[in-house]
Amino acid sequence: MSRSLRVNGTDHEIHSDGETPLLWVLRDELGLKGSKFGCGIGQCGACTVHIDGRAMRSCITPVQEVSAPVTTIEGLATEAGLHPVQEAWIDHNVPQCGYCQSGQVMSAVALLEEEPNPDDERIRRFMSGNLCRCGTYPRIHAAIRAVAD
Ligand code: FES
Repeated sequence: MSRSLRVNGTDHEIHSDGETPLLWVLRDELGLKGSKFGCGIGQCGACTVHIDGRAMRSCITPVQEVSAPVTTIEGLATEAGLHPVQEAWIDHNVPQCGYCQSGQVMSAVALLEEEPNPDDERIRRFMSGNLCRCGTYPRIHAAIRAVAD
């Protein structure tokens, strides 16, 4: 059975089984490779996308449970340019290997949309579910701080 899924402002007919995690629908069926597979059990944040504007782990979200619009890292920029968080990531040279960074950016955007001026503790708590093996945490924090201030 096919289903409709709105991703980055476009409606798609999806043919994957309903139990298929959203991450694999995005990557394999729609060719959106920006969302990454890290742990597959909702622990690392590499697969973070927005569902109805909220940061969600796409690796543990069956596509049949997704009825609201999805935004991935590929949908963050507009014709006007990169999202301010993406600009801050560049300005602060945040990525090292880069693998976790799309998930980091999606979480940071969700935080700032929920709370435009979070304090340091709030940033740390919100972002604590996004792991980075390169240890770019100080630069992630600085980039978020720069957009928030
Ligand atoms: Fe989804 Fe790690 S791959 S949380």
